[in-house]
Amino acid sequence: MRIEIPRYSERLGALRIHDVQRVIEIDSGGLKSLGEDFHVIRFSSEEIKEIESRMAIVLPVKNEKPNILEGVLSGIPHDVLVIVVSNSSRAPIDRYQIEVDTMLHFYRFSRRSFIMIHQKDHAWGLALKEVGYTEILEGDTVRDGKGEGMVLGMILAKALGKDYVGFVDSDNYIPGAVYEYAKIYASTFLSSRTPYAMVRIRWPYKTKFVGKGFYFRRRGRVSGITNKYINLLLGRLTRFETDIVKTGNSGDHAMTMKLAEVMQFMGGFGIEPYELIYLIEEFSGFKPTKYEDVISKGVEVFQVEPRNPHVHEERGAEHIKEMILKSLSIIYHSSLCDEELKELILDELITRGILRPGEMPPKQRAIPPIGSINANKVLEILAGHAESFIATET
Ligand code: GDD
Repeated sequence: MRIEIPRYSERLGALRIHDVQRVIEIDSGGLKSLGEDFHVIRFSSEEIKEIESRMAIVLPVKNEKPNILEGVLSGIPHDVLVIVVSNSSRAPIDRYQIEVDTMLHFYRFSRRSFIMIHQKDHAWGLALKEVGYTEILEGDTVRDGKGEGMVLGMILAKALGKDYVGFVDSDNYIPGAVYEYAKIYASTFLSSRTPYAMVRIRWPYKTKFVGKGFYFRRRGRVSGITNKYINLLLGRLTRFETDIVKTGNSGDHAMTMKLAEVMQFMGGFGIEPYELIYLIEEFSGFKPTKYEDVISKGVEVFQVEPRNPHVHEERGAEHIKEMILKSLSIIYHSSLCDEELKELILDELITRGILRPGEMPPKQRAIPPIGSINANKVLEILAGHAESFIATET
């Protein structure tokens, strides 16, 4: 793969956020063709494959069409471990069972490794209580939410000794896009100068079929707003305005396990913007942190624009409003957000009819880092007690 080098980066303490890098070639040849390059980063298929064998990709699933899930699977490189965490309904139709059948059918032909489990399996309650990781539970079961599902996936990736963990939304219609994301994840990890790295996909276009043809929309309906306010926060902290953040809501992203282990997360659809807010709060030097190794080695956030367009299920206006509310609430409640910025956020939410005057953005609970969890114990309990757990040889 051949990708532009980051042309510009914003540095805050130990955190470095790189501007968008575009993919030049999805495949740039083998080891033999590697030569001197100054304006691009380039990795051979062999180098990328080595990273892929140490990577897991988590697919959060909730009531998606099985044929689209199968398409996503077909795009993930064979050596990457797939971890499906599903919160699909079990009744009146058992949609999870349909997903299991889809995965096993695919396995019969491809022999690709995967593990899958339902988010509400009672064994999660047993396992997470056993290791003292209960903030994600409501009573005996894991809470609903995409973020919660992703955290479960990360715990499994950690238990299986993976060094990298990525995420791909399971409603992606284009297997080629999924394939490209995996290659981007591996290439950016190869290019990173720190073991604490994150890469976020900046979709070139969100594609819709309108009238008689495709319409390629450049901006997401939510991300444009989230990016604006994260950038405003950064500008106010550094006193230099910036537009560096372009992936505030990027569901398709990946990080090194070392970074995943020190990250605090947010449930539901707030997880992606919160990751950035957490990195800014924790590692930009505005307050002390206990993670000294991260401070000395630094954190890099890459934002990469693939060649494939993004085509996914279009959700309704209410879903979009909920995502805007979640995203802006996170910025509003950041300890680094000043009163003036809070006012701007409130105005935005009121103008969009998402909040009424006098209402406050809801404060969401953070999910603590998975670093100190005994993930092997969790896996052992799941393997012994979970009703929905399926694993091929991994
Ligand atoms: N395990 C699990 N649990 N998965 C879930 C849940 C849940 O409770 N809720 C949703 N998902 C899965 C969906 O099946 C899909 O694969 C993925 O999470 C994203 O959910 P969508 O409902 O498709 O969200 P979206 O496409 O509108 O939003 C996506 O893009 C946003 C950026 O614009 C998500 O990735 C957002 O997180 C992201 O911010």
